[in-house]
Amino acid sequence: MVKNKNNKTIWSSRIKNKTSSLFQKVGNSLNIDKKLFKEDIAGSIVHVEMLFRQKIISFKIKNKIIYGLNKIEKEIIKNEFEYNIEYEDIHMNIEKRLFQIIGDEAGYVHAARSRNDQVITDFKMWTTSATKEINKNLDNIIKTILKISEKNIETIMPGFTHLKNAQAVSFAHYLMTYVEMFTRDKKRFFNNLDSLSECPLGVAALTGTPFNIDRNFTAKKLGFKKPTNNSIDTVSDRDFVLDFLYSVSVCSMHISRIAEELILWNSDGFNLITLSDKVVTGSSIMPQKKNPDLLEFLRSKTGTTYGNLFSMLTILKGLPISYFKDLQDDKEILFKSNEILINCIIILNEVLVNLKPNKQKMLDLADSGYITATDLADYLVKNHSIPFRKAYQITASIVNFAEKKKKKLNELKIEELKKIEPKLTIDVLKVFNLKNSVNSKKSYGGTSFDNIKKMIIKYKKT
Ligand code: ARG
Repeated sequence: MVKNKNNKTIWSSRIKNKTSSLFQKVGNSLNIDKKLFKEDIAGSIVHVEMLFRQKIISFKIKNKIIYGLNKIEKEIIKNEFEYNIEYEDIHMNIEKRLFQIIGDEAGYVHAARSRNDQVITDFKMWTTSATKEINKNLDNIIKTILKISEKNIETIMPGFTHLKNAQAVSFAHYLMTYVEMFTRDKKRFFNNLDSLSECPLGVAALTGTPFNIDRNFTAKKLGFKKPTNNSIDTVSDRDFVLDFLYSVSVCSMHISRIAEELILWNSDGFNLITLSDKVVTGSSIMPQKKNPDLLEFLRSKTGTTYGNLFSMLTILKGLPISYFKDLQDDKEILFKSNEILINCIIILNEVLVNLKPNKQKMLDLADSGYITATDLADYLVKNHSIPFRKAYQITASIVNFAEKKKKKLNELKIEELKKIEPKLTIDVLKVFNLKNSVNSKKSYGGTSFDNIKKMIIKYKKT
């Protein structure tokens, strides 16, 4: 229950019975919204500065309130602040303490404001900082990937479709797919900043206020671009929470796909990479084991980020417009998703920095499964004016022949090839070379070494 300095609840003049202790327990959000203390104090300071500029409160009261709020901020930072769950949330805890420090004039802090607009203002500010922090972390991981890619331009591995050998690629080209994914994530988070830039402060409970407030002043001073347009929509809107949760879901889905693939490559069946001992764990019974637990953590956490998105969508679906207590859950959900994503990005970064490609294994696997068959079909089209569908049939006959003879394509003799397609000449043998195969894919976005080098330079510049 929220009390003023005389230890009376703020709404005790209307509500006579004491709130049940169970309701206090489940209804308080203090341990969750504590995180918002900085934003809350900044918001209140700017609010009273505006109240003074608009001649709603005196210079003296403004200064007293600001003095109290600064003192409270120091107390919280120094862990000297006494939280009380009876006061429901961080906003009321701060207000209650303000009464203790400066007396009844503390009450002016809430003129022309409600907790409804106060909470969303704080929350939008927090979400803006979190969004920027996520993008910094994404920048870091992109840098890591570019570094590893630079070292692996000529590392050749099989590219798979349906998990079957498809065509040879550079390991760097493969890694650069992660750069594309994380760059899209960054853009998605960045775009969210637009709706986060509208300031809710001053819409009060739901209607606006009769005070002559200056919402442009508070918006600008708190780092927003402009005030929101409709007071009722403002207190009910949680689209910015959904945008954030969706962006987290997509980014963690990317991380999960990468994790799943690395788990496969690290399996004894593939053995294409070796994970560092820093990111594996042992088994309690099988002494030989090194399990990729951290990658599995990355995969599983996506379940929670999706769940959080769906929790919020579900909370909102039946709510009439304006504020309801249901909305209080938005913070726990968003904070959790944010924490998960930051941890996942940092862990993936650690996994990648320490990962070793098993280059010989990659090459050996690429050298199986007739992986250069498409190169042969392309060669027939380019060098012997054969339509692609016909070239495909000829190549299939050559693969069948090699399979029967238990030979790789690069082990076939020109005489054997000529029996199937008489037009073939000795230079065809070059197309079975894996390096040539990778390097031939010079089309924009393809896996040739030059393309990859250029792409790495391009991303390093941004
Ligand atoms: N802790 C609440 C929340 O975060 C504060 C909003 C209170 N507003 C109200 N009308 N009860 O949603």
